[in-house]
Amino acid sequence: MAYWVWDESLDIGIDVIDTQHKRIVDYINELHAAKQSKDSERLSTILAGLRDYTRTHFVFEEEVMKQSGYPLSEAHKKVHDAFVDQIDRYVKQHESGQDITGKLLSELQIWLTNHIQKDDRDYATCVVKMTQGSWIQRTLRRFFG
Ligand SMILES: [Fe+2]
Repeated sequence: MAYWVWDESLDIGIDVIDTQHKRIVDYINELHAAKQSKDSERLSTILAGLRDYTRTHFVFEEEVMKQSGYPLSEAHKKVHDAFVDQIDRYVKQHESGQDITGKLLSELQIWLTNHIQKDDRDYATCVVKMTQGSWIQRTLRRFFG
């Protein structure tokens, strides 16, 4: 049984973004599995993957918000930046030998759930409204199906 099972309360209505969020949930489940097996090397690899993937995902979201003219994109980016800093701190603590995985897992789950259900859903509503039938929807569909 996975640590965190995806459910539709986390859907924001933009398929490509939902798929990226699901991948982040997968990373968190992989992190949990590595913690259970006490495999420190595996933990490091997953942490690095999670950090890189999250960064790329945030850049993608920020571009979508910017292109659609979402008025709160700057504030949303600041929230992303603070979260990336927080993950970086955890990675450093892990590298210095501290056992941070349990704390990180619960923090990630709480943070992501809140962020997706409030901040992301807010821009998604706006993006869908502003871009219906427009180039961004067509482009997203063309590239990501
Ligand atoms: Fe976001």
